[in-house]
Formats: sequence, structure tokens, C-alpha cells
Amino acid sequence: MGSFYGCARSTIGAARTWFYYKRIILISNSRVEAMKKMLILAIVTILSASFGCGSNSPVSDSERSIEQKVDSLLSVMTLQEKVGQLTLYTSDMDQTGAFLRPEYLEDVRSGNVGAIFNAYGAEYTRELQEMAVNETRLGIPLLFGYDVIHGHRTIFPVPLGQAASWDLDLIEASERVAAREASAEGLHWTFAPMVDISRDPRWGRIVEGAGEDTYLGSKISAARVRGFQGNDLGDVQTIAATMKHFAAYGAAKAGRDYHTVDMSDRELREIYLPPFKAGFDAGAATVMTSFNTLNGIPATANEYLFEDILRDEWGFDGFVVTDYTAIMELLFHGVARDEQHATELAMNAGIDMSMQDGFYQRNLADLVEEGKITEEQLDNAVANVLRVKYQLGLFEDPYRYSSTEREEAEIMKPENIETARDMARKSMVLLKNQNQVLPIKDDVETIAVIGPLADSQRDLIGSWSAAGDWSKSVSLLQGLKNKKPEINFIHAKGTGIDDGDTSGFDAAVNAARQADMVILALGEAYWMSGEAASRSEIDLPGAQQELAKEIHALGKPTVAVLMNGRPLTINWLDENIPAILETWFLGTTTGDAIADVLFGDYNPSGKLPVTFPKSVGQIPIHYDMKNTGRPFDANNKYTSKYLDISNEPLYVFGHGLSYTTFDYSPITLSSNKMATSDSLQVSVTVSNTGEYAGEEVVQLYLHDKVASIAPPARRLKGFQKINLQPGESKEVVFNVTNKDLSFYQKDMSYGSEPGEFMVFVGGSSKDTQSAEFVLE
Ligand code: NOJ
Repeated sequence: MGSFYGCARSTIGAARTWFYYKRIILISNSRVEAMKKMLILAIVTILSASFGCGSNSPVSDSERSIEQKVDSLLSVMTLQEKVGQLTLYTSDMDQTGAFLRPEYLEDVRSGNVGAIFNAYGAEYTRELQEMAVNETRLGIPLLFGYDVIHGHRTIFPVPLGQAASWDLDLIEASERVAAREASAEGLHWTFAPMVDISRDPRWGRIVEGAGEDTYLGSKISAARVRGFQGNDLGDVQTIAATMKHFAAYGAAKAGRDYHTVDMSDRELREIYLPPFKAGFDAGAATVMTSFNTLNGIPATANEYLFEDILRDEWGFDGFVVTDYTAIMELLFHGVARDEQHATELAMNAGIDMSMQDGFYQRNLADLVEEGKITEEQLDNAVANVLRVKYQLGLFEDPYRYSSTEREEAEIMKPENIETARDMARKSMVLLKNQNQVLPIKDDVETIAVIGPLADSQRDLIGSWSAAGDWSKSVSLLQGLKNKKPEINFIHAKGTGIDDGDTSGFDAAVNAARQADMVILALGEAYWMSGEAASRSEIDLPGAQQELAKEIHALGKPTVAVLMNGRPLTINWLDENIPAILETWFLGTTTGDAIADVLFGDYNPSGKLPVTFPKSVGQIPIHYDMKNTGRPFDANNKYTSKYLDISNEPLYVFGHGLSYTTFDYSPITLSSNKMATSDSLQVSVTVSNTGEYAGEEVVQLYLHDKVASIAPPARRLKGFQKINLQPGESKEVVFNVTNKDLSFYQKDMSYGSEPGEFMVFVGGSSKDTQSAEFVLE
């Protein structure tokens, strides 16, 4: 027998469902319809109440009761209703205001669709939900999804920028704000976080991820999932997260979006999968397929990824959704003969829901009837979707997320804007600050603010800006004026972002001549990164560098403020402009946050989550490369290098300056030996030796000196962000465990090998102290 409480709870739950739906059914159009629905509902209710009283399984009562509800609902669903639950369509309109897919409302009314994306707003989602609940036979609520990638209405820095903060609590808090805003507008589900590792800045989607590193990326993945989902998916202020894109999408050949991926299983598991595993461990409810092939097999037809790894190895019990029309794309990949075949491949790979191509809707029922897909497979997929709907509480109240009051109270409320500004301040990376040009001194009277991004608003909210309103973003110029109304700011655009137009140069030079100093706002347009936005050259576009040269020739103190969605090759700026502040795209509060940093109200603390190359020819370039059998030697031609450029990047992973300076003591180890069952404490004392209070990200890297698999030169295995007043010192202690020393060995088992290790601690991947120990 089940526990008394389990039994009582499922009976109460069933009763609640009964009363709730009875109300809805009673307002159904026809009496016969209403009677039919009540009969079905009675069966579902009795089944789910009785299941809770009769089992003794190890799963918790609430899990069991959800499984029972799912089973009882499944038992009364027709084939067509089941297929409907596996179908997702957009509610998008084109520029004329016409629906991209005009039949979509009809599909909602007839139960041919289980989820809708791009519809938001308390009233609109309620209207759609009413159609699904009142007009379909079973009244199964819709799931509303949306790309809430870096904020919903209050736009936060792009994810790559947020990653530069290395501030996991703040990243989590940012997603909580996004979840609160999104859920108040009827959304249940976000297509985020994107946890794809990428080492190729040509790939435009590098902006959506956490950069090149697996350890940092995994920590951020978990923080984002926690932020979106909280501890309870049933909490109305949380939304279901989607880990995407499974898998290895960031390794597209030549950095060209959607392109082929080929890699060893070792690299896949060591570099690309851990952020997904971290998101899974944090409870992510859904996973999205990637567009690419992986070792010849498109992800959307890849049983190894979804059945073997995700379900069997990890035990994932949420649902898998394809990326946009990805089942249809199996035809173009050349692995499917026709629609039916593509559908069969996807279903057999364990893909539960199809996005936008309608392939499941059109083909699944036939495949089941022909016996090519079993009913059990279909039921499993439907159960995966229904389970998440139950967890979200949609069967108890399908309208609980669509609340006009919450919408009004939550959207862009002052606390949300303040969190966004904090995130924006902490996302900036001070790349260079020669002669302490920054922070701007008090005696400055006139500042020229020059460049195509100086007064831009649209670009600031980046790509994937959800329901963000760019006209509410604070431009750099506006932010500067807000902060220092007493300063005379002269603005000149100089040139467009990518038009190569030099006709504004004279005005820009004139403005600079009149000023005590110049702020040059340079970078990319918002559409130059994100999906389908790969670039073969990653220089400053258009005539921006020429503009910088003209201004530089005047010899005024100059600060370059960069706005961009990827690392750029900015060698000339680095050689010539004394101060460079990387700001990415900082979102709604951009100008105010940058002004906080430029004027020293916030001391920059960001560190690069991705390497900045000197040249596209160096790509892929990342800090954890292997040594090769011929490590670089300037005096030996036959070592691993280029004839025309150094191996070194422009800025290394983990680099980022502060207005103050930090001094690192030598490393102290708790022992110079460690047993696998043991741990080792690695300590350093960090002192603030400058004049400003500041935060430092203390980074720990490890290197296995000899291993059966050629080890990377070093790999990040820990970091701590500390705050120090001028003159203050703090001891920072890291706990190194056997897991930190483990890797995929020759036979692909995961573990460590005894021997000598090096440990590095410092303020970047290069600037470190080191020590050695032995793993026994
Ligand atoms: C395609 C993108 O690859 C994916 O990340 C996004 O979630 C979907 N479109 C839906 O907008």
C-alpha cells in the first residue's frame, strides 16, 4: 500500500482537478460534448486518485502522483491527441501582421498542437489557453515557450558578457528576474540557457554562450538553470529551462553557422558535454537538439546523444524538443528520403517534440499505424511532455502564469533594472589601461563622445532580445550625461558601423579637438552576432579603425569603449589607444553602467571568458591547448608555430584589469602529496596594493605532467571572486579533489592517473604562481 499521505494527497489532487475542469466543461459549447468530456474526466480522476493509494515504489509521492496522472491521461488520449502534444508552432507574424502559419489557431482549437512559442503577454496567452482548454476534447493546456536569452523585458548583458563577470550568484539572480518577468506574461518555458562551448569567434552564436571554457561554462549553466527554475518548477514565478543545443553546435567547422561537426568522443565528453550535464544535474526540464551533424549523424536523428547519453547514462526525464524545422532539415542533410523517413529517424533518436516543421503532426500517426514507430515510443514521448506540464502546475490552473496584475507589477520594475545595471557593471572587462587613463579624472570639462555606437540604442540590447524594447535602453552618451550633467559632452558619429562612410570624419575630428579627452564607441551592430551571423574577419567593421586613427593622431587622452558580441582582432587599438574597455552589449542599462565604470563609481572586475586572437588565422585558439610534440621555440623552425604571426593571442582567457592592483603570494599546499580519496588545499594570499577598492577573480588551473592521454597545458578547475579594500589582504583556499584531476583515459573510463601535477593560481590563465604535487 502507498503511504497514507500519498494516498490523501493524490485524492485531494484528483478532486481539485475534477472541480477545476468540471467548471470548464460545463461551459463547453454543446451538452453532448460536455457529457463526453465529463465521462473522460471522471475516469482520469478516479485512476489518478486510486494510483496514489496503491503503490510502494521508491519515487516520492509527488513524483508518483504526477506519473499516475500522466498515465491516466495517456490512457484516454487518441493517436491524434498524442501527436498534438508533440507539436510546437510559432505564433509569429510577418511584417504585414499576418501569421507565419495562419492555420496555427485552428491547430490550437483542434488539439493539433501542444505548445506555442513566441506568444507572450498575459492577455494573449490567456486567450490562446482558453482555446486549448475549452475547445479541445481533453482540454490539455498549452505550453508557451520563448527565447528569453538575456532578460525578458529588462534586458541584461548578452550571455557572453555575463560570463565575463564570473559571478554565479548574480547570473542566477539575473535569470530569476528574467523568469519573473517572463512568467508574469504567460510564459512557461524558455529556450535557454545556451550552454554550447565555442572556441571560434567567427561563429556568431558565441555571444549566446559562456565562452570557451568547460569548467566556467558548466558552473554558469547550472546557475542559469537554477535562476530560471528555482527549486520548484511549480512556483508560478519560475519557468522551465532548455539546455541547448545538444550537442557540440559551437564546434561548427570554419565557424560557419549550422556547419558540420566532427570530433572524437573524448573531446565531446570532455569539452562539450559537461555544461549540459551540469544543467541536467541542476534539474533542467528540457533539452533542444542542435542543427549540426555530429560525426556524420545530424543531432536531430542522433540516438547516441539522446538515447544513450541523455536518457540512459544521465537519466533525463524531461522532454527533448528539436530546433526550428530541424526534422525537415534531415532531408537537406541527406539522411532522410522523405518526410516520413525524417520523422521516423527523429522519433527513433528519442526526440519528443518537433518545432515548427509539422513533421510529427503530419507523419507520426501513419508511422504508428504502419508499425514503424511503436505506441510505446509515442506514449513515452507524450509522457515526457505531459510530465513537464504537470510539474508546471498547468493542469491545476492553466492560466496561473497569465496574470495582468503580475505583469504590471513585475515588468521592468526598479529592482529588475538595478539588478541589470549591477550585472552590466560586472560584465565589463578592462582590457588595457595605460598610464591610468581611467577612471576619468575630476578636472575634465569637455569630452568628445565619438563613434557609430556612441548614441546607439538598438544595438545595446544585442541579438535575441526577447520582448525587450530597445528604445528603453540607455545609450552611452545618455548615460554619461546622466552621470555628469556638469561636463560638456560633444557627440559626433564619425562613421556608420559597417558602411565605410568617411564623410563624418571631419566633424568627429573637430569635436575631438575641442575636448579634453575622447571616448570612442566602436564595435559591431547587434545583428552581426547571434544566429546566422558568422563573420570570416573579426576586425572592427567598416571605417571604424580609420576613424580611430584620425582621432588618435590628435594626441588626446582616448578611451575605446567596445560594443560587440564576440572577440575582435583589435591589434591596432591595442597598440595605440591607451585604454580599452570591453562592454559587449550590456542591455537596457548600458549607458548608465558604462558611466559608472568610466568615472570610477564601479571598479571593473570582469575577466575574459574567451580568448581574443590576434588574427583569424590562429582560430581555434584557446588557453587549454595541448603542448604538441614540438612546443614553440623561437630559435627552432621545426616547432609548432606560424611563419607570419606569433602563437600568442591578443588577450588571454581570464584576462581583465582593475583600477587597483593585486599582488599574489606564492602558493602554499597543505601537502605535496595527495591520495585519490583525499583532497589538497591550495592557498594564496591576495593583497590589494593599489588605491581603489576592487574585486578580483582568483583562478586555479591544473596540469597533469604525464598522462596516458596528452594533457592540456592547463585547465581551469576553480575560481573565487573576492572583494578587497586598498591595503587589505585575504587568504584564498581552493580544495582540489580527485575529480579535478580526472579525465577520459585511454579506455574512455573517467578517472585520474597517479603522478606529478602542477597547480597554477593567478588573475588570468597566464599570469599565475605555480607549485607541484604528486597524486599517489
Ligand atoms: C533557432 C535557434 O537555433 C534556437 O536557439 C531558438 O531557440 C529557436 N530558433 C527558436 O527561436
